[in-house]
Amino acid sequence: MMFKEEESGTAQRFSLHGHWSSRLAFVLAVTGSAVGLGNIWKFPYIAGENGGGAFVMVYLVCVVAIGLPVMMAEILIGRRGRRNPVATMALLGEEEGASRQWKWLGIMGVVAGILILSYYSVVAGWTLAYIPKSMSGAFSGATVEDVEVIFTNLIGSWVSVTIAHTLFMASTVFVVAHGVERGLEQAVRFMVPALLLLMLVLLGYAVTSGGFAAGVSFMFTTDFDALTWDGVLQAMGQAFFTLSLGMGAVMAYGAYLPEETSITGSSASVVAADTLFAILAGLVIFPLVFANNLDPAEGPGLVFVTLPLAFGQMAGGAFFGAVFFIVLSIAAWTSALGLVEPGVAWVVEHFGRTRMQASVMVGGTIWALGLGTALSFNVLSDVIFLRGTIYQNVEYLTSNIILPLGGLLITVFAGWVMCRNSTSEELGGAGNTYKLWRFLARYIAPAAILLVFLEAIGIIG
Ligand code: PFF
Repeated sequence: MMFKEEESGTAQRFSLHGHWSSRLAFVLAVTGSAVGLGNIWKFPYIAGENGGGAFVMVYLVCVVAIGLPVMMAEILIGRRGRRNPVATMALLGEEEGASRQWKWLGIMGVVAGILILSYYSVVAGWTLAYIPKSMSGAFSGATVEDVEVIFTNLIGSWVSVTIAHTLFMASTVFVVAHGVERGLEQAVRFMVPALLLLMLVLLGYAVTSGGFAAGVSFMFTTDFDALTWDGVLQAMGQAFFTLSLGMGAVMAYGAYLPEETSITGSSASVVAADTLFAILAGLVIFPLVFANNLDPAEGPGLVFVTLPLAFGQMAGGAFFGAVFFIVLSIAAWTSALGLVEPGVAWVVEHFGRTRMQASVMVGGTIWALGLGTALSFNVLSDVIFLRGTIYQNVEYLTSNIILPLGGLLITVFAGWVMCRNSTSEELGGAGNTYKLWRFLARYIAPAAILLVFLEAIGIIG
């Protein structure tokens, strides 16, 4: 028997994978998973497209009223079960008098992590490829056409993108294979503070770029006229993706959380840190865009075309451009760890494999699936079905269907299926904070998520 369970409650349960050595380690790990391409690439441009300050305000409300309670729910479920998300859901489903079939929620999470990382790794590979390009001065003095050619040549070459994707996956597997304390924890202890430091360096650069005031007013001027109902829904969806919720990543990390650590306090720290990074990213990117009279609403091309163009026009641009893409690569890397952990923990526990074997197996599967995305931009660009290319289908299925559905089911489980005693025990008693959490988890979060979900799959809106 792998687990000890002589006593009631969870005090006797141990994770097979070890535990975080401190609360700080846990907060850094979840922050590492939360801060990623979603913050640095996506948040700034959707904020810009949706009225800047008004969108930022709605986003903040969503993060606090939906993101925070869902994060607390995921962590408390993970810690109570202390297993991989599949086994945890089966165990708690049974223990709470519901059904072991709740395991399907865990399975959906493992699958989502694998699918998301299959394309996330390809995009992360592009950022890796941009580091030497920036350093070598490829963007210095380049025109829009030059930069576009560099980008299309990169994504159009299946050899280059496959090499970059392979490198990124190999570095992810390398960390995960070393386990919770010697792998994940060591990586985030160094990477997350490094990320913050480098972001501050870039902020200093943006402040002196000449476009800082324009960038700040673009992000914080509250123009409610520019905010649409669709923008509100996008803010909710973004709150989810950016906090890594709805797919068991945070649940898997919660399984390694020491008994005495406050879930409410840790969740609040992560949410604050993730929001700080999103705002910082906007404050770095927009001033550079405005200083060079470029278009802030460029969308997906913002980071890979507009920004290199801005760096190419500025003094020190080759160096700071390289720093920017290093930041983006590190942010993506620590997020990848969270995407792969549910699958690895499941393979270790379910098939009795070593962590090394499990990491290689899960990482290898993701790598192979990722070829579908890598080739979507070149050799297989003509393969179009449902929502578009292979990449577009995987992205749509995961972001718009699996994550909201997973988040909805997780809050319903924590708010409605689990009994009051179980959840209050994990959240440190039945005081006012607990009451507020329970209200948000039972009513507000599920209703709001349902709205996003129905909008995303086109039933309303
Ligand atoms: N939160 C990450 C980002 O904002 O880029 C994306 C992500 C990572 C989603 C890990 C889900 C996850 F488990």
